[in-house]
Amino acid sequence: MAIKQDITYKINNSVTATELISVFKSVGWKKNPENIVSAFKNSYYITAYVKRKLIGFARAISDRECYTSIFDVILVPEYQKKGVAKKMVLMIKERFKGTYFFLTYTEGNKEFYEKCGFKVNKRAMWIERQV
Ligand SMILES: CC(C)(COP(=O)(O)OP(=O)(O)OC[C@H]1O[C@@H](n2cnc3c(N)ncnc32)[C@H](O)[C@@H]1OP(=O)(O)O)[C@@H](O)C(=O)NCCC(=O)NCCS
Repeated sequence: MAIKQDITYKINNSVTATELISVFKSVGWKKNPENIVSAFKNSYYITAYVKRKLIGFARAISDRECYTSIFDVILVPEYQKKGVAKKMVLMIKERFKGTYFFLTYTEGNKEFYEKCGFKVNKRAMWIERQV
C-alpha cells in the first residue's frame, strides 16, 4: 500500500480513455469511452498517480475570472482516506482563487466537500442531463 510520499500529482497531463474509465469503474461510475478524453481536455484537471498507475482525479471548468465548477472528484477505493482527493480539490481552489466555486455532491459525500471548504447553497439549481 502506497504512503503519501509515493503519490504524485499532475496537471492537464496526457490520459487515455482506458485509464480514466478504469478509475470511474472502480467506484461504480459508467462513462462513455468515446468522449471522456475530450471532456477532460476541455477542462482543467489534476491527476494522482502511484508510479505509473492512475489512482484518481478531479476536474474543473472555469472562466478563470469569476466562476469555477468542479466535477468528477474520484479516488480508487484502495487509495481513499489518505487526503488525496482533498489535496486535488484544494489545488483547484488555489488555481482559480478569487472565483466562486460550484459543485454537486453524490450521496454520502457532503461532509467531504465541507472539509474542502464548501457550504450548501439552497438557491443553487440544475438541469439533469437529457439522454
Ligand atoms: C469522495 C471521495 C472523492 C473522497 O476521496 P478521499 O481521497 O478518500 O478523501 P480524502 O481522504 O481527501 O478526505 C478528506 C477529508 O474528508 C473526509 N471524508 C472523505 N470522504 C468522506 C465521506 N464520504 N464522508 C465524510 N467524510 C469524508 C476524510 O475523512 C478527510 O477528513 P479529514 O480532513 O478530517 O482527515 C472518494 O470517496 C470517492 O472517490 N468516492 C467515490 C466517487 C464519488 O462519489 N466522488 C464524489 C463525487 S460528488
